[in-house]
Amino acid sequence: MSKTTILVTGGAGFIGSNYIRWLLEADPAVSVINLDALTYAGNLENLAGLENHPRYGFLRGDICDGSKLDAQLPARPDEIVHFAAESHVDRSIEDPSAFLRTNVLGTQAILDLGRRLKVRRMVHVSTDEVYGSLGPKDAAFTESHSLRPNSPYAASKASSDLLARAAFKTHHFPVVITRCSNNYGPYQFPEKLIPLMIANALEGKSLPVYGDGKNVRDWIHVQDHARAVDLVRTRGQDGEVYNIGGRSERENIEVVSIILRSLGKPDSLIRYVQDRPGHDRRYAIDDTKIHAQLGFVPAVSFEEGLKATVRWYQDHRTWWERVRSGDYQAYYARMYGGRLSSS
Ligand code: NAD
Ligand code: TYD
Repeated sequence: MSKTTILVTGGAGFIGSNYIRWLLEADPAVSVINLDALTYAGNLENLAGLENHPRYGFLRGDICDGSKLDAQLPARPDEIVHFAAESHVDRSIEDPSAFLRTNVLGTQAILDLGRRLKVRRMVHVSTDEVYGSLGPKDAAFTESHSLRPNSPYAASKASSDLLARAAFKTHHFPVVITRCSNNYGPYQFPEKLIPLMIANALEGKSLPVYGDGKNVRDWIHVQDHARAVDLVRTRGQDGEVYNIGGRSERENIEVVSIILRSLGKPDSLIRYVQDRPGHDRRYAIDDTKIHAQLGFVPAVSFEEGLKATVRWYQDHRTWWERVRSGDYQAYYARMYGGRLSSS
C-alpha cells in the first residue's frame, strides 16, 4: 500500500486532535507526525490511546523554529496540514503578540519548511473570521468576499492567508486555504462558547453572554470539518480557497438556551455581561464552491451534534476539570517523560 506521511501542526489542539483521530481511522495508508508546541491550548490527553499507534508520532516543537525543525522531524513529510495557531479572540484582544508570532511568522515558517522539503500539498487551515462581520440581511461570505478582519486574531489569520497566497503566486508552492465557521465537539478548550457554557452549567456557575446575545455564528461539528479538510487535502486545487460551513446559523442566546435545557438547568444561570470590543455581529458561509467541486455536505445536524457534545462533556468531566485546573499539563511529562518524539 502506498504510504503518505502527513505533518500535522497543532495536532494536540481541539480541531487538530479530532482530525488526527479521524484520519488514522479513515485512511490506513497515512502516517501522521504531530508537531505541537503544547501551549496552554495543546493537550496530549486529546490524543490519549494513540501513544503507541504504529502510524502516529509526536514531536514537541514550535512552528516558528524554522530550519531547526528539518533535522528534528522523524520522517520526511509528503504533505502538511497546518492547524497550529493562537485561536481565541478574547486573548488576542488582551495581548496580540503571541498571535502575530505564531499565526503570521509561524505560518511563514511552515510555508518555508514545506518549500524546503518539497511537499506536494499543504493545507492552510483558516477561518471565516477573516471576512469580517455581516449584517442580518447580508449575503453569506463567498471565497471572493474582501478580507476585513476586525479582531487581532482575525487580522493575524488574514495575514497568514495572504502569506499562503503569496507562496503560491511567487513560488508555485502547492498550498490550499480553507476558511471554516465555528467548530464544536469533543476536546474543545472550555474558553470557547459551547464548552464554556456546558462546563459552567454543570458546575452551577453563571453563563456569561456578551452584549445582547444576538450575535450569530454558523456552527459545524468538528468531525465534519475534519472530513472537509481532508477532501481539500486530497482533491482541492493548488492556490484555491475553500469555505467550509455547517449550514447552521444560530444566535448565541439560542445556543446557550439549548445547552441549559438539555442539562435541565434554569435560565437564571444566564448572565448578560459587557460586550466584547469589536464583536462581530454575524458570520455566514456560502459553501457553494466546496459543495459543487468536492461534493462536501455537512453530515451532523446542529441539534444532534450539540446533544452529543453536551453528553460528551457530561461523560468526560475529568478531562475538562483537569483543563480548568491546569493539571492536564502534567500529562505530557507522565506519558512522554520529557522525550522529544515518541515515533
Ligand atoms: P486550539 O487553540 O484548540 O489548538 C491550537 C494548537 O496549536 C494547540 O495544540 C497549540 O499547542 C498549538 N500551537 C500553538 N502555537 C504553536 C506554535 N507556535 N508551535 C506549534 N504549535 C502551536 O485551536 P483550534 O480551535 O483547534 O483551531 C485550529 C485551527 O483551526 C486554527 O488555525 C484556527 O485558526 C482554525 N479554526 C478554528 C475554528 C474554531 O472554531 N475553533 C474555526 C475555524 C478555523
Ligand atoms: P467564541 O467561542 O469565542 O468564538 P468566536 O468569537 O471565534 O466566534 O465565541 C462565539 C460567540 O459567543 C461569539 O459571538 C462571542 C460569544 N461568547 C459569549 O457570549 N460569551 C463567552 O463567554 C464567550 C467565550 C463567547
